[in-house]
Amino acid sequence: ATAGVALGVALAGPAAASDQCQDGEIVIKFSHVTNTDKHPKGIAAQLLADRVNSEMDGVACVEVYPNSTLYDDNKVLEAMLAGDVQLAAPSLSKFEKFTKKFRLFDLPFVFKDIEAVDRFQTSEAGQSMLDSMQRRGLQGLAFWHNGMKQMSASQPLLEPGDAEGLKFRIQTSDVLQAQFEALGANPQKMAFSEVYGALQQGVVDGQENTWSNIYGQKFFEVQDGITETNHGILDYLVVTSTEWLDSLPEDVREQFLTILKEVTETRNAESYAVNQRNKGLIIEAGGEVRTLTDEQRAQWVEAMKPVWEQFVGDIGQDLLDAALASND
Ligand code: LMR
Repeated sequence: ATAGVALGVALAGPAAASDQCQDGEIVIKFSHVTNTDKHPKGIAAQLLADRVNSEMDGVACVEVYPNSTLYDDNKVLEAMLAGDVQLAAPSLSKFEKFTKKFRLFDLPFVFKDIEAVDRFQTSEAGQSMLDSMQRRGLQGLAFWHNGMKQMSASQPLLEPGDAEGLKFRIQTSDVLQAQFEALGANPQKMAFSEVYGALQQGVVDGQENTWSNIYGQKFFEVQDGITETNHGILDYLVVTSTEWLDSLPEDVREQFLTILKEVTETRNAESYAVNQRNKGLIIEAGGEVRTLTDEQRAQWVEAMKPVWEQFVGDIGQDLLDAALASND
């Protein structure tokens, strides 16, 4: 593969990938929805492409389609099963149609930080989740970190009551819906690519996301401020179709999976720092960041944590206990 020049989307046009594959190479189309630079997923996807395209030159080639230029998350898994795309890394909230086990990751206040998430995901219980959708034709290959979610709205959010009656954009997850209903707010499921416009036009009043997504999509420009709630996590599953993975020659599969494993370890170790950088960029750009007192944070926990009871049956108490144990 020729290492492509990463053109900006505006220059590259719709659905243009940043790398050109040569005839005879196994083409691995990687579709995702975030920006490319300064973003944990964007950086990891490009590193994966760069390494495959140089180390597997002539054999395999990754083409990255970022910024929802190829598929939104609500289409990409169907497209994968149809063989139109080989790799994606949707957030763990986007697998509801395929497994209810991943609901664990959307429960508020389970993981105290991204290191706890990492300990759980790399444990036996976490790794077994990679195989939980095989019967549906999907194989999880790796967990990639983004980070902890923060909350924002068109007015200051300091106590849970401040969210009451407001409309919040959520990812397509019933847990996230229940979380905002527990606050007396109105959650609206919406594709990532539509959120900025919806906030700007007042279709929704608020949202929750990581620093890197809030900066990358410029949500802070159309919000009153961001409250540092760290109330939940947003992480990704690098996923492929079992059919495609099985179709690869064994040596190709092994080399590809080894590169992916190394990229995962390298980039996951940096995800916290990447998000902190994005937080700094928001502040530099004039965005307002609010912190909670211990007392205020305890109120959010009290308001949102009852949601666990609604979903523990889907997840399994054992898995929830294993996740909680990763905090120690
Ligand atoms: C979202 O929809 O908010 C996120 O899943 C986007 C992403 O991929 O980080």
